[in-house]
Amino acid sequence: MTFENIRYVGVNDRDIDLFEGMYVVPEGVSYNSYVIIDEKSAVTDGVDGGFADVWLKNIAAVLGDKKPAYLIINHMEPDHSASIFAFAEKYPDATLVGNDKTFVMLSEYFGTAFEGRRLVVTDGEELSLGKTKLKFVFAPMVHWPEVMVTYDETDKVLFSADAFGKFGTLDVEDKWDSEARRYYFGIVGKYGLQVQGLLKKLSAYEIRAIFPLHGPVLRENLGYYIEKYNLWSSYTPEVDGVLIAYTSVYGHTKAAAEKLYEELKDRNVTVSICDLARSDWSQCVASAFQLSKLALATTTYNGEIFPAMREFIDCLVERNYKNRKIGIIENGTWAPVAAKLIRAKFEKCKNITFAETDVKIRSALNDESLAALKVLADEMSK
Ligand SMILES: Cc1cc2nc3c(=O)[nH]c(=O)nc-3n(C[C@H](O)[C@H](O)[C@H](O)COP(=O)(O)O)c2cc1C
Ligand SMILES: [Fe+2]
Ligand SMILES: [Fe+2]
Repeated sequence: MTFENIRYVGVNDRDIDLFEGMYVVPEGVSYNSYVIIDEKSAVTDGVDGGFADVWLKNIAAVLGDKKPAYLIINHMEPDHSASIFAFAEKYPDATLVGNDKTFVMLSEYFGTAFEGRRLVVTDGEELSLGKTKLKFVFAPMVHWPEVMVTYDETDKVLFSADAFGKFGTLDVEDKWDSEARRYYFGIVGKYGLQVQGLLKKLSAYEIRAIFPLHGPVLRENLGYYIEKYNLWSSYTPEVDGVLIAYTSVYGHTKAAAEKLYEELKDRNVTVSICDLARSDWSQCVASAFQLSKLALATTTYNGEIFPAMREFIDCLVERNYKNRKIGIIENGTWAPVAAKLIRAKFEKCKNITFAETDVKIRSALNDESLAALKVLADEMSK
């Protein structure tokens, strides 16, 4: 489906080292912005600061002699908003559209709330551009408090802010799921309840296409993407299977994790394995949420859980990890405490069941711990 009156004016960022200061993005990321051409044209959102010039050129190339009447600010995170001041200077007659919270953030970032040239909208408020009627739907905490999405009632198009976004520049040809999942659980994962709220609001609207702030425009099979968001935000596993996440200093805990992997494969279980110290943590987090079960194998380290495992569990707990089964493999040479500490870390999480068998290793696998591994494999394959 093409929407002749909606043009892309965003940018691809291939040079970014870490998205939000912590996510590796080997295929870069796009900051999407669109122009809705009408009697009064509107630009939706901006781009990161280093791309302001390119963005303004893109807008001018689309509009020619005309000027945008509005800049609609769905999200104030600087990957989209850092260029707004440059826009406001170039187009002094343009009105900035946002909500109360948007303008508080604008004044914090830029020292001005743009009095005299702003339109403060409320939830559900509409704006006519001529032919196109827009409706603003508030979506607090998807992913910041000021977030709103803009529904184009004329074209039945949703400008969805960060929702339905993915990592990767727009020229990357990959399947949406993997990088959209990593993006979702990394960035919005904590706010499942708020995403559910937004999905409920949106179910009242006919949507023909979704224009997110990162990644490609979604034009077909929208039910597929919406169902993924429904699963993710309700913390429902997508796949029945086990992620084995381990840390190991000298290889003995790794051997146990690999043995569990084989045992589960033998039982025809879908299983993935990752070395937490050597893998992209955000990929491991996404896999943990994708699958229904989690096996954690770790060394005791200075009376604590090995640091990479500690951080991994913190990332899960922070993102409201729930509705899962967890198995534990603990290693320690003189005073193993990892299993006890792991259980304590998940105390805040809802609907977590632990496998009955903890595999306890003293330094290296032996007959007893090997037998326990098989019992754990039985439990995790149920
Ligand atoms: C720096 C360091 C600190 C450790 N601290 C503890 C500890 O506090 N208690 C314990 O039982 N084992 C401790 N260990 C031993 C490990 O938990 C583990 O048993 C050993 O490294 C063998 O497992 P691996 O081959 O998977 O690394 C420590 C090991 C290292 C390298
Ligand atoms: Fe964001
Ligand atoms: Fe974003």
